[in-house]
Amino acid sequence: MCGIVAVTGYKKALPLLINGLEKLEYRGYDSAGIAIINPDTNFISCNKAEGKLQNLKNNLNDHNLPGTVGIGHTRWATHGKPDFKNAHPHTDSSGNIAVVQNGIIENFQDLKNKLEEEGIIFNSDTDTEVIPHLIQRELNTLSKLNLENNGSTLLVAVRNVLSDLEGSYALAVLWSGAPNSLVVARRQAPLIIGLGEGEFICASDTPAIANFTNIILPMEDEEIALLTPLGIEIYDSNNERQYRNPVSLKVSEQIMDKMNFKHYMLKEIFDQPQTAKNWLENYLIKNSDNGQYQINYPFDTEFFKSIERIEIIACGTSKHAAMVGSFLLEQFSGIPTNVFYASEFRYSPPPLLPNTLTIGVTQSGETADTIAAIDMEIKRRSSIENEKFKPNLIAITNRKESSIGRQVLNIIDICAGIEVGVAATKTFFAQLLSFYGLAIKFAQIKGNQSSDEIGKLINELIKLPPLLEDLLDKHNKSSEKLAHDFFNIKDVIFLGRGINYPIALEGALKLKEISYIHAAGYPAGEMKHGPIALLDKKVPVISIASPGEVFDKVISNAQEAKARDSYLIGIAPECNGTEIFDYLMKVPSSNEWISPLLNILPLQLLSYHIAAHRGLDVDQPRNLAKSVTVE
Ligand code: AGP
Repeated sequence: MCGIVAVTGYKKALPLLINGLEKLEYRGYDSAGIAIINPDTNFISCNKAEGKLQNLKNNLNDHNLPGTVGIGHTRWATHGKPDFKNAHPHTDSSGNIAVVQNGIIENFQDLKNKLEEEGIIFNSDTDTEVIPHLIQRELNTLSKLNLENNGSTLLVAVRNVLSDLEGSYALAVLWSGAPNSLVVARRQAPLIIGLGEGEFICASDTPAIANFTNIILPMEDEEIALLTPLGIEIYDSNNERQYRNPVSLKVSEQIMDKMNFKHYMLKEIFDQPQTAKNWLENYLIKNSDNGQYQINYPFDTEFFKSIERIEIIACGTSKHAAMVGSFLLEQFSGIPTNVFYASEFRYSPPPLLPNTLTIGVTQSGETADTIAAIDMEIKRRSSIENEKFKPNLIAITNRKESSIGRQVLNIIDICAGIEVGVAATKTFFAQLLSFYGLAIKFAQIKGNQSSDEIGKLINELIKLPPLLEDLLDKHNKSSEKLAHDFFNIKDVIFLGRGINYPIALEGALKLKEISYIHAAGYPAGEMKHGPIALLDKKVPVISIASPGEVFDKVISNAQEAKARDSYLIGIAPECNGTEIFDYLMKVPSSNEWISPLLNILPLQLLSYHIAAHRGLDVDQPRNLAKSVTVE
């Protein structure tokens, strides 16, 4: 996955491109590059640098690029190493065409072979480089028809080339033959056009645009557009011109501010009490007639009544939220629920069952595996002529304007605000809350849970914000201290059971993705079936022990680890049994149902401080990107 930005208008393109790329760097930071048309010569000037955007900025320090039309790219390597030669933009042999692309061209090798047979020499290992060469070939063909060199000709050439590409892409193309024009297109990768004053800016995500305008035109799948300073023409895949009204960006889609925090991740961990407040305000509504609380999700009661089972599709942290959700939906609301890795579901879906609700969970709304799995499920259900098998869909996302927002009608917007740190924290928390809402909604409608129990759960949710604030205050310093003692460890085991097993998985994922320390989460009861062989005094065990159904069992499992000399860290309230821990990260006593919402915070803080103590790039860990828009 990568970020692209493109601009045409009357202002200097360079600062607009750099500013846009700064906001997109979370999408990939293996290399960065820009191409700008020189207004005097119409030549395209390309500048690229391996590594982070800062390297490109350093290179550009003494460059005066006066052009007003340009494209930029920040890369997360898929085809070809993260080095200079593979950095975008890529050009044709003459350097008259430059292209930036986010996606994967699946048939690039066939196309490349054919072009090489025609004598084209490639300069990179990327899939993208076929595109400028193909456009050049197409423009040569079009020139025989005596078409003028202008944006419309470029549009035709790009459209013809796109019909030969397989895979997904968002791309932007410059041609020195049409120096004021840009052609942009998308298929299964995001692209938004911002309407600024005197310029149009096109980018992979809203923050890249938000500094210039809050008026946007999201492009639909399979659309292509020609942008000149005078206007925009958008066409669908049938070459029909599209007319639609622009929309305004929400404030939360525009703000990217680290405040006084050292890293976005820490700031986003500290955002969580506010995330809880927002959720309560948005989704918990008191019925003035009977004083009862209702979950204010935008689907009618009939929708829920027919549902007999649920399947949830997600990746990474979103899958861990889905696992907590599945526990709640089954154990609290009584609805059979299964969770699937999107990447597995795509190729081995379960047999179709009737009256099934499919829930896609993706904070970015752009994860390729999740989008494709949902798409596949919509198609296979729609092909059956039986009402009971029709697709019933809900998406839980932080970006309702994203691909999943266009794919699925029923959206639960987690309203967490933009998350910049690559490691998901507040969006995980908000996804969890969304599942609590769904579980309550199902329990109320299906009557599988007493109203007393539902009321208790709601009351615990209402009490959350100050508890979370207190937790963060208490643990920020202490986990920094703990990190000091543990920053050099090689392996960590996380244990949890029941509703907290997914929290153990999430704790382990957070630690490994930002600190590069090997960590694994297990259901505590499974330790003795194999993983216990890993334990010795060099392998600390972090055990989540929330009072309730499985508390004693978790403590016994922790004893087993202690007997193997592991240093034991407990995530638990102070109570009988927790003396066993060498170090206790105290959380408030709570109803067991609610415990994941409290237990995750100290784990996030500990991972953060360990990575920060190791001097690592917490917000942009190596090899990762915020949303993975390739398979
Ligand atoms: C989170 O810390 C990870 N970086 C990653 O696992 C992420 O949750 C996963 O890629 C899914 O992303 P999504 O929620 O945007 O679909």
